[in-house]
Amino acid sequence: MAKFEPVLLKNLGVEGSRTLKVYRSRGGYAAAEKVIKEMTPDTVIESVKASGLRGRGGAGFPAGMKWSFLPPERKVTYFCINADESEPGTYCNRVLMENDPHQLLEGILIAGFATKTTVAYIYMRVEFHEQFHIMQTALDEAYKAGLFGKKIFGTDLSMECYIHRGAGAYVCGEETGLIESLEGKRGWPRIKPPFPAIEGVFQKPTVVNNVETLCCLPHIFERGVDWFKSIGTENSTGPKLYTISGPVKRPSCFEAPLGITCRDLIFGDDFGQGMLDGRKVKGCIPGGLSVGVLTEAELDCKLDFDDVRNYGLLGLGTAGAIVIPDDADIRQVLANIARFYSSESCGQCTQCREGTNWMYKIALRIALGAGRISDLDLIENITNNMGMMPGLSICGLPDGAAFPIRTIVQKFRGEFEDHIRRQDPGYTKTVLKRLNPAVYELPVLGRRPESLVGQPE
Ligand SMILES: Cc1cc2nc3c(=O)[nH]c(=O)nc-3n(C[C@H](O)[C@H](O)[C@H](O)COP(=O)(O)O)c2cc1C
Ligand code: SF4
Repeated sequence: MAKFEPVLLKNLGVEGSRTLKVYRSRGGYAAAEKVIKEMTPDTVIESVKASGLRGRGGAGFPAGMKWSFLPPERKVTYFCINADESEPGTYCNRVLMENDPHQLLEGILIAGFATKTTVAYIYMRVEFHEQFHIMQTALDEAYKAGLFGKKIFGTDLSMECYIHRGAGAYVCGEETGLIESLEGKRGWPRIKPPFPAIEGVFQKPTVVNNVETLCCLPHIFERGVDWFKSIGTENSTGPKLYTISGPVKRPSCFEAPLGITCRDLIFGDDFGQGMLDGRKVKGCIPGGLSVGVLTEAELDCKLDFDDVRNYGLLGLGTAGAIVIPDDADIRQVLANIARFYSSESCGQCTQCREGTNWMYKIALRIALGAGRISDLDLIENITNNMGMMPGLSICGLPDGAAFPIRTIVQKFRGEFEDHIRRQDPGYTKTVLKRLNPAVYELPVLGRRPESLVGQPE
């Protein structure tokens, strides 16, 4: 692979990279000034569309197209910068804000100009204490330099920007949960339509974009649309931040063209550099927890917006890879995943509230050595009956729960069955007795899924 020159992380490790002075000395804010002084909002939107920039927050929605959904006649536009970053395994937004806060602020200026934004809110997860102070310091500096507020770059453009801290809920990363939380309410996702472009913050037209999506903008306007399009694959253009965690030699955040393979990310010299202590890879969850799992044999999957679907994954997600080593007990992995979604479901929708909890109880029972072969069918069946895909939920959280759980059960079925067959019946009985009766009786509670009707308990 030809040596790739990082742009999103180009200021990483540069002394004083958080300050306006250093950012400007390295060409910062020149793109925003050019855009605001020389372009119109419509031409900016057209350029972003032409660049092929797709949202980096998980769904991969084209950024320029999202902006063009705003109603043409509007007095107020709000812009929410999604810095909630709660997806397990994901930390690229943190790296961007921590090391180069002005890059994000410049991206906000460009996006704000294109969308005629009046107020931008950076919605940041509460656990980002240090990052909050870094961003606030940078924002104060930017205000002092006339980059936010009135008469930006001496033009008629005005835009305010505030940082709003969340209260620590995964679901507040979902764009309408974020909007509710921003308004001071419980972070419950809203039924759509209306979509935020029509009715978002305070019922006004609103755009929600991820931190990394916005950080791409200064580079698109500095280096040009063709440069951006020349990086990556056909439908997945531009640079991408990949993060990797688990027992690899170099767990970190890396920048690469969209479309590197999962194997490159784990073993490449420029990336994870292979496994620690001679371990092998059992599997990898390549895009933040919600996308699902790849087995070792599937590691040549390209991490772009298309190829992941050939491997039964939900999407590229956030490209935050979690490596599962060969010595990990797959039952524990499953229980851990199921627990996360069960505790993060906001509870509004029955299938999500009950389904995530039900899956956790079954996964826990399996992990404790009291599973049944039929549990594997049951849990898979539940994953097929929850989420936005079958149209049974308000938001995508249960889809994000279903994909890792279903793919792990399907792709590691043999391993689960081996564990279950080798269970000591005496021990199983003890565990079952000790478990909450609701867990013990799960398969016989309520209507049995179609696939299990007629089969022994
Ligand atoms: C449960 C859930 C959690 C989410 N968490 C985040 C998050 O932490 N950060 C983020 O940018 N997007 C998150 N999203 C996606 C957002 O709803 C939204 O699509 C995204 O912020 C749009 O930005 P983009 O178009 O720039 O990707 C989440 C979605 C769901 C369903
Ligand atoms: S799908 Fe789940 S997380 Fe989303 S709104 Fe419904 S209950 Fe809440």
